[in-house]
Amino acid sequence: MRLDLTGKRVVVTGGTKGIGRRVVTAFAEAGASVLTCYRGDETTAAGLLLELKEIGGDHHVVRADMSVRADVEELVAEAHRHLGGIDTLVSNAATVSHHPVVELTDEVWQHTLTTNLTGPFTLVRSALPLLSEGSSIIVVGSRVAQAGMPAAAHYVASKAGLTGLVRALCKELGPAGIRTNLVAPGIIETEATAALPADRRCAYEAKSSLGRLGSVDEVAGAVLFLASDLAGYVTGETLNVDGGV
Ligand SMILES: NC(=O)c1ccc[n+]([C@@H]2O[C@H](COP(=O)([O-])OP(=O)(O)OC[C@H]3O[C@@H](n4cnc5c(N)ncnc54)[C@H](OP(=O)(O)O)[C@@H]3O)[C@@H](O)[C@H]2O)c1
Repeated sequence: MRLDLTGKRVVVTGGTKGIGRRVVTAFAEAGASVLTCYRGDETTAAGLLLELKEIGGDHHVVRADMSVRADVEELVAEAHRHLGGIDTLVSNAATVSHHPVVELTDEVWQHTLTTNLTGPFTLVRSALPLLSEGSSIIVVGSRVAQAGMPAAAHYVASKAGLTGLVRALCKELGPAGIRTNLVAPGIIETEATAALPADRRCAYEAKSSLGRLGSVDEVAGAVLFLASDLAGYVTGETLNVDGGV
């Protein structure tokens, strides 16, 4: 029994930084062909392309904003052109910001829901013709969907909505042999968390049973497991990668 992802056709949204980037490179290292997208940072995207070239294989990095339906549909069209079908669809891109509820504007609320919840729904709906028996959908949510977080009602609500989306898709797509799962990271070491003030970092570390933040490798490991045949009978699940909060 082994994790064999050789030749898998994988689409990952938001793959040029943080968790998404490690998911992309881990799939590439495992022998998959990957198409990923970013929202606007061309420099980082160019850096990822170089990294993928070193790993080897057939990979593509394109600009597509998951809050814009036409961009989502174009990303799926690129997947059709470059990969011909999708074995693993990873919805990872999301926006996060911090505003106390009293200051939360309609615009921020709407943009967050559009990017983090409508985006994944539109992605799955557009990609359905490219999915087939044995394909798997993995949605990156967040541990805060269950735990809550102050000054983030918009973000937490958007991530909680993904739990319902995944449960509904597991029931609806299961009969077609398509699995749908959610990975819920706790606080993970990324460029963003590197800038945390020391006291906030300590507080986050203390929340986890392991007494530390997680790594992008550890989240990528969970995603690759769910994409693989090792998880062939796992669907509708939320896999917390949070060090035991
Ligand atoms: N980091 C954590 O501690 C943590 C904890 C729990 C859950 N998560 C979840 O994990 C996922 C990844 O988070 P992260 O912290 O790794 O993110 P990140 O480091 O901020 O990277 C975000 C990536 O997504 C892209 N992106 C952002 N908005 C996009 C959009 N509208 N359309 C397409 N691409 C977009 C960015 O591209 P550009 O740079 O070009 O904008 C970048 O490649 C998110 O779903 C997040 O909610 C993260």
